[in-house]
Amino acid sequence: MDASVAKKRRMESSNGSGTEKDSDQTSYVETTSENGKTSLMFGLKEEVGTLARTLKLFEEHNINLSQIESRPSKRNPGNYEFFVLCEESTEKLDSIITKLQEKAVYVHIMSRSQKENSIPWFPRKIKDTDEFANNILSYGSELDSDHPGFTDTVYRARRKEFADIAFNYKYNTPIPRVTYTEDEIKTWGTMFRELTKLFPTHACREFNHIFPLLVENCGYREDNIPQLEDVSSFLKDCTGFSLRPVAGLLSSRDFLAGLAFRVFHSTQYIRHGSNPWYTPEPDVCHELIGHVPLFADPSFAQFSQEIGLASLGAPDEFIEKLATCYWFTVEFGMCIQNGEHKAYGAGLLSSYGELQYCLTDKPEIRRFEPAKTALQKYPVTNFQPVYFVAESFEDAKDKMRHYAASIPRPFSLRYNAYTQSVEVLEKKQQLKDLAQSIKGDLSILIDAVNKVN
Ligand SMILES: [Fe+2]
Repeated sequence: MDASVAKKRRMESSNGSGTEKDSDQTSYVETTSENGKTSLMFGLKEEVGTLARTLKLFEEHNINLSQIESRPSKRNPGNYEFFVLCEESTEKLDSIITKLQEKAVYVHIMSRSQKENSIPWFPRKIKDTDEFANNILSYGSELDSDHPGFTDTVYRARRKEFADIAFNYKYNTPIPRVTYTEDEIKTWGTMFRELTKLFPTHACREFNHIFPLLVENCGYREDNIPQLEDVSSFLKDCTGFSLRPVAGLLSSRDFLAGLAFRVFHSTQYIRHGSNPWYTPEPDVCHELIGHVPLFADPSFAQFSQEIGLASLGAPDEFIEKLATCYWFTVEFGMCIQNGEHKAYGAGLLSSYGELQYCLTDKPEIRRFEPAKTALQKYPVTNFQPVYFVAESFEDAKDKMRHYAASIPRPFSLRYNAYTQSVEVLEKKQQLKDLAQSIKGDLSILIDAVNKVN
């Protein structure tokens, strides 16, 4: 799920205004304000007073908790599972973690703190996504009081089922298939039917090229919610992108890191059926209709990966800037084709209202310039007042590369598609190998140009 602090921002900025957009809240951003917090998940034997004793333990260690959730454990029957969000960094929690480890069936530290002036940890190979996919800021069943499904116990239980699938998922294994209910399919069908009417005139050329292929190959139909596993396989064949189910809200650092490996963290649950045109968070409609089609486009896939690669090891302030660039491109991006504005952002392509609005003369349109776009503030509960237009995905990619070079990092990175890993270029031999690789590609290019001529 491309979600984290935008949710927080939404809560802050909504401020009771009650303005609901009929779109997906394509949240994904974490800011530095979340730093220093640590989330833990642990299992304890089911006994009377377990919760009280657990709270006491945190109190004794002077640890502030901003969130706690407990439930019977499905993985370990007879145990209770706890999710807590602590207002402390991992280092300060060392002693309590040791105590928990003595008592608990398991303890999972779900987020890391960052030492000052150190280079933030980042994944080096695609399998490392297992290391952070569960570093979630909240679990899937936790809903805000203003969430349409807040009082719906059936919906909340369903959300837990989806969260458990994602929590137990491991890299390179099939994404479990889900049997969606009649109501869920009805909600999907409403969106699918209405949005597909707009795509021919409102969506960019690349989107309209790929969408029929998803209908043909992945079961995109009004009466069927496609399975993440099928869609992920399709994307792998097209561009090497893959989907990974996620149990809750990821930090933007972790979410963007996934893109560096062409991994898109995706929700699998669907919005509450009471209003198919409103969701306060990303859901499977937003991911599959809004995001997936363009991840099958080679240029867009490369552009998305560029943002991800730029984020690896970047300082926090740049993570926020990159997340803002992501917001105004992958989520709410527009482009010019044959002299007309078209939508390519997933937040637009999965919103019946905003997709029409963005092509009117009401919003302000500016050119996409990462250094400037990265500073633009934006609302998360209303339609965007400003959109940024890219000349093309290639142009946007070149600009992102240029911008990434301005990020203060004491190393250079290169993605190795053969090993699906990132290489930190710091040794002469690595540079020689890279030069040889480029030389080989150039020879192929020259040979091909000569033959085409
Ligand atoms: Fe999104």
